[in-house]
Amino acid sequence: MGAPFIARGHMTAPLEPEILSDTIRYLEQQQARNVRYLPIQPDLLEGWQTAGASPAQAKPATAPFKPAPSSPLPSRAPMTPERRAAFEDLRARARACTKCPHLVSFRKQVVFGVGNPDAEIMFVGEAPGADEDLQGEPFVGKAGQLLTKMIQAMGLQRSDVYIGNVLKCRPNVDTASGNRKPTPEEMETCLPWLKEQIKLIQPRVLIAEGDTAVKGLVPGLKDGITRLRGKWLEFEGIPLMPTFHPAYLLRNQSLAIKRQCWEDLLAVMEKLQMAISDKQRNFFLSSISGRS
Ligand code: URA
Repeated sequence: MGAPFIARGHMTAPLEPEILSDTIRYLEQQQARNVRYLPIQPDLLEGWQTAGASPAQAKPATAPFKPAPSSPLPSRAPMTPERRAAFEDLRARARACTKCPHLVSFRKQVVFGVGNPDAEIMFVGEAPGADEDLQGEPFVGKAGQLLTKMIQAMGLQRSDVYIGNVLKCRPNVDTASGNRKPTPEEMETCLPWLKEQIKLIQPRVLIAEGDTAVKGLVPGLKDGITRLRGKWLEFEGIPLMPTFHPAYLLRNQSLAIKRQCWEDLLAVMEKLQMAISDKQRNFFLSSISGRS
C-alpha cells in the first residue's frame, strides 16, 4: 500500500505521521464508545474519492434516513445558580397562573414540567391529561410510559432530558377520564410560559410530540404531522424535530410508523453526536422486513 494521503479539495498531499496517529487514536476512541458513524464534510468525502478510496466505503452501509443537517447547534451558557433560581421563580409564577379561568377551575394543579433544567434535549407535548393533572408531572399515563421507553431506547433516562407541554393545565372536559385538544387561544395564552422555560433551559434540540405540539411551537404550519415529522424546523434558533405523539403510536400499532418515529429520534441523536449502536440503528427494521 502506498503512503496515506490527505485530500484538500482536488489536491492531495502526504499525510503527516502525527496527523495520522492522532486520527487513528481519535477513531479508536470513537470505536471504544461504540460510535459507528461520524459526521463527514461532503468535500472531505469527495477528497477521499480523489485519493482513491471508494465513497461507498466511507458511507454507512445502511442509512435509511436523512443525513445530519449541517446547521450548527446553538451554543449554551453553563447552568449558573442565577439561571437555576430564575427557573424556580418561573415555576412558582406558572404554578400560580390564573390566565384561563375555565382551566383554573377545572385543573387539580398546574403541570409545569419535569426533568433536568440543564438538559440538551427537551420534549414538548400537547397538554396534561387526567393522570398528569393528578400527579403534577407530564407524560405519566400510558402515552407517557411509551415516551419513557423511547427515551430509554435513546440510552437516556427521563432525568437526563426535560419534558414539558404547550399547555400547562389540563383542558377541561365533561368526563373524569376524557381529553380534548387545547384550543389555539389556550395555546397562545400559555405559550409565554413555555417560551420562558425554553429560554432558561437552553436545550440544543427540541422534540415536538405530535401535531398540536409542533403547531403550538410554530404557529401557521399548514401540513399535518405525517408530512412534518422527520424534517428539522426551528424554534427561536433551536433545531426542532417534529415526530408522532406516543398516544398515536399506541393507537396505531404499525411497526413502520414506529420505525419512522424512531428515525426522528435517531436524527436527534445524530445531531447531538450521541453514540449510536448498530442495535439502536436497526430497531424495528428486522421486524418490518420479516413481515413484508
Ligand atoms: N400527552 C401530552 O401531550 N402531554 C402529557 O403530559 C400527557 C399526554
